[in-house]
Amino acid sequence: MAEHYQFEGSTAAGISVSVEFALTHGHLAPGDSLPPVRQLAGELGVSPNTVAAAYRHLRDRGLVETAGRNGTRVRQRPPVSARLAAHPSVPDGLADLSAGEPDTDLLPAHGPALARIATRLTTTGYSTGPHHELLEAARTRLGPVPSEHLTVTAGALDGLERILTAHLRAGDRVAVEDPGWAALLDLVAALGLQPLPVPVDDDGPDAQGLDRALRQGAKAVIITSRAQNPTGAVVSASRAAGLRAVLEPFPDVLVVEDDHAAELADDELHAIAGATRCWAFLRSTSKPYGPDLRLAVLAGDATTVARVEGRMRLGAGWVSTILQRLVVELWSDRSASARVEVAKREYAHRRLRLGGLLRARGVEARGRSGINVWVPVTDETYAVTRVRDAGFAVAPGSLFRVGTPPAVRVSLGKLRPPMYEPLADALVEAVRPSRRVRQPV
Ligand SMILES: Cc1ncc(COP(=O)(O)O)c(C=O)c1O
Repeated sequence: MAEHYQFEGSTAAGISVSVEFALTHGHLAPGDSLPPVRQLAGELGVSPNTVAAAYRHLRDRGLVETAGRNGTRVRQRPPVSARLAAHPSVPDGLADLSAGEPDTDLLPAHGPALARIATRLTTTGYSTGPHHELLEAARTRLGPVPSEHLTVTAGALDGLERILTAHLRAGDRVAVEDPGWAALLDLVAALGLQPLPVPVDDDGPDAQGLDRALRQGAKAVIITSRAQNPTGAVVSASRAAGLRAVLEPFPDVLVVEDDHAAELADDELHAIAGATRCWAFLRSTSKPYGPDLRLAVLAGDATTVARVEGRMRLGAGWVSTILQRLVVELWSDRSASARVEVAKREYAHRRLRLGGLLRARGVEARGRSGINVWVPVTDETYAVTRVRDAGFAVAPGSLFRVGTPPAVRVSLGKLRPPMYEPLADALVEAVRPSRRVRQPV
């Protein structure tokens, strides 16, 4: 698409504005390549250095990324609104297993809980903040995580941004899981931070990999406690101990844990919180109770929590106490808890069934917990296309990878019984393109 679009500008600033305009107006989409530097310089009659500076500026702001030999391409979630663009993310007629969303049929209904709190709501002014009932309820739910200092953010991703900006500056290095959550990789890029990849196996981030990143100057590390996205990894007790040991010589490193699966996780929590002086632990309500609640509880050391809360006061102020009360109500409602238990079992069933069908066909996939299954493939573009031909949209692993091998992510939120067999068949074909060649035509 970018090939047909006429970029403009005679300065680096002008060219980068033109690229941004193309993005917000739908002439460029996530994943699209920008023209090679020399080609665009020739077209615009400027020096290649000017175009290179424009691309660097866009990269520093997290809009584009360098894709090795493939040049420069638009990031998956560039931090500009594409409201004016009309890109259907998944073509009509495909079962969307690409989105990483919880199954809305499995979420507790919010209406009845909202109706119950409605009669108790009081009108409040600006002197509002974290609701004491929410904080008390959160303390009992946080288990091994120190909960002396708590606050509330508008979801885990909002919390991650606030924690990172409370401690880091553009150019700082941050250790991230590889593969890891695509939105976090995009956020890290948008903040101008340098990601240092740490490989992840089923027990969580590799301790040696973290050690390497710390020695390379990582000022922070972000770890997913359970249901790691995209691999389903869970930080085991022995891995947590290994990670703590590696962190010991680095007491000033910021350790951020993202427990986004929360009550939906099948496995016990093994927290790293407190291994260093500077830490934060996020417990989101999105996966078990619904993303629209936009609420996460943040525990941390006194300074981190104070900085996050203080900065929030200068902007959004606080998370609406209506939402905070709704979460308290959902947490204390037995039918909502029962529904979360059903959802937990259902996701486990979906993971095991899909994993079993793939294994029976000779393909090993990863998905120890959570709502995604990670299937290693030889060629992601081929795999995504092959699965699409069978009627399914899955996510290319490139969105989640920094340096680890190719794969596709299959999200289980919209997986329904009739889909298993055709999906497993398509994935088996997708994994090994060469199988096609071997078959007689
Ligand atoms: C690892 C991870 N953390 C956090 C989130 C979302 O959390 P929230 O909705 O609270 O921002 C997701 C959503 O997919 C996720 O995969």
